[in-house]
Amino acid sequence: MKAVQINKYGGYDVLEVNENATKPKTGEEQVLVEVYAVSINPFDYKVRSGMYKNMMPLKFPSTVGGDFAGVVKEVSEGVYDLKVGDEVYGSANVFSGGSGSFADFTVAPAINLARKPKNADFIEAAALPLVGSSAVQALEEHIKLQNGPTFAKASAGKQKILIHGGAGGIGHIAIQLAKTLGSYVATTVSTDDKEFVKKLGADEVVDYKLQKFEEILKDFDAIFDTVGGETTSRSFKVMKKGGMLVSMVGQPDAKLASEYGVTAIGQGSKVNTQHLNRLAELVETGKIRVNIDKVFLLGEIKEAFKYQEEGHLRGKVVLEVKK
Ligand SMILES: NC(=O)c1ccc[n+]([C@@H]2O[C@H](COP(=O)([O-])OP(=O)(O)OC[C@H]3O[C@@H](n4cnc5c(N)ncnc54)[C@H](OP(=O)(O)O)[C@@H]3O)[C@@H](O)[C@H]2O)c1
Repeated sequence: MKAVQINKYGGYDVLEVNENATKPKTGEEQVLVEVYAVSINPFDYKVRSGMYKNMMPLKFPSTVGGDFAGVVKEVSEGVYDLKVGDEVYGSANVFSGGSGSFADFTVAPAINLARKPKNADFIEAAALPLVGSSAVQALEEHIKLQNGPTFAKASAGKQKILIHGGAGGIGHIAIQLAKTLGSYVATTVSTDDKEFVKKLGADEVVDYKLQKFEEILKDFDAIFDTVGGETTSRSFKVMKKGGMLVSMVGQPDAKLASEYGVTAIGQGSKVNTQHLNRLAELVETGKIRVNIDKVFLLGEIKEAFKYQEEGHLRGKVVLEVKK
């Protein structure tokens, strides 16, 4: 079978399409999926570059990628909820027990997939797993955004959330979810993306290239930070006491959090059946729609990664594996 693999850490150059890769075999409680589409996440190029090589070393050759959508071909013992022929989506990341998704076939633990949203095609479904699960986990489980003014005690009206990186993969889903949950949403984006995020429902848009968000915004109940670095530390200034900050990029400064009287955590996202089912419900009820910035073929893997890594995307980059 065909698979995108690496034999060493590095830039785009280390990506190879192996036409004779070994088809992965299922272990206990795993599922074999014929892959129709996959999507790129920043995690994939961070892994490729060797950023995590000390913490989580790869065994070469290593098949790249996590997110996928496809059709179940085989289920192993202990899998009760899925059957051959089901259209599914999820993660086959090697660090979560999968075989890597950028291939004709992939194996993943059954707990890391679910039936895909009925109204999403394979391209859209493949774009959703990591970014959608990240948004659901942060907004619903950690921040506990909910309809109505009951979130932070000090809140008089709607809960106010600031989403950093609103045009990105996670950010553009998070804006739609926060609006669905009844919040007032501010977001930071670059100049060209202002109209895009307004159409997604953002109430207030700050151009991070031209403006300092901490000079414009105040009294936010929650921050969802998909950017990290000094954006995280500057965010405390715009928060209400008792608020909650969730960062996708590292652990926020605990001392600063305590000084400002807020809770701040770094999230490790889980692409699991529970999050994927919730995501499917949001997509099927029309609350969330993933934006596909560009679709490449699997053979165009270097161009696709280059496009993703150069930034300024609106939503997601997807690779079509099978028509
Ligand atoms: N902890 C976890 O489990 C986990 C899970 C998933 C993702 N992540 C991490 O979360 C981050 C976001 O992921 P993603 O998939 O959403 O990435 P993405 O699609 O690349 O989106 C990032 C967005 O941030 C914007 N941005 C960059 N600098 C900014 C700034 N100073 N202020 C405001 N916005 C800014 C970018 O806009 P421009 O391109 O226009 O600059 C882009 O739209 C990545 O670092 C990823 O590795 C972590």
